[in-house]
Amino acid sequence: MKLVFATNNLNKLKEVQALLPASIELVSLKDIGCTEDIPETSPTIEGNAIQKAEYVKQHYGYDCFADDTGLEITAINNEPGVYSARYAGQAKDANANMDKVLSKLEGISAREAQFKTVIALIYNGSLHTFTGICKGQITETKQGDRGFGYDPIFLPDGYTETFAQISLDEKNKIGHRGKATQQLINFLKQ
Ligand code: IMP
Repeated sequence: MKLVFATNNLNKLKEVQALLPASIELVSLKDIGCTEDIPETSPTIEGNAIQKAEYVKQHYGYDCFADDTGLEITAINNEPGVYSARYAGQAKDANANMDKVLSKLEGISAREAQFKTVIALIYNGSLHTFTGICKGQITETKQGDRGFGYDPIFLPDGYTETFAQISLDEKNKIGHRGKATQQLINFLKQ
């Protein structure tokens, strides 16, 4: 059976495909001819993941899953949350986004935060969601040059190095996206 992963990131697609039974063939948005921007207008991470999966089902007819991720910082009302990509403006500039977080947290010692990934799956007419959370702290400065997004300022609980300093393998083991993806895979394997 064909299942759409609502992404055009072929690396993400290959990674998940490798973990699935051969009976499930993952296809990208491009593969089904979906080249338009899918609306992401929900005020929540979960809502956006569901909106994307439902859009594909409604417009293209395929079973589908979609993911959405955000960084939630307790001291600033769970910002940037659903606005993580564009926190400092439309340019989606990771450095500017981190600078904005660091300046908002200046002088604040409570720096608890979490990354949250929600995967919404529409399968055989039913909606299922899988949530992966990784808790940690926002550092005082950027550290490390691996990864992407907010990785240089996120120190996962139990670690002395940021997401941008540890290996990708390690990040996938303890990270939000890895945890949500594992739940999806377990469900699809059943
Ligand atoms: P998306 O929903 O995967 O596109 O993620 C939205 C935004 O959250 C990205 O543009 C990044 O700013 C941030 N983000 C998502 N995942 C990560 C991560 O693993 N590390 C750091 N930042 C992330």
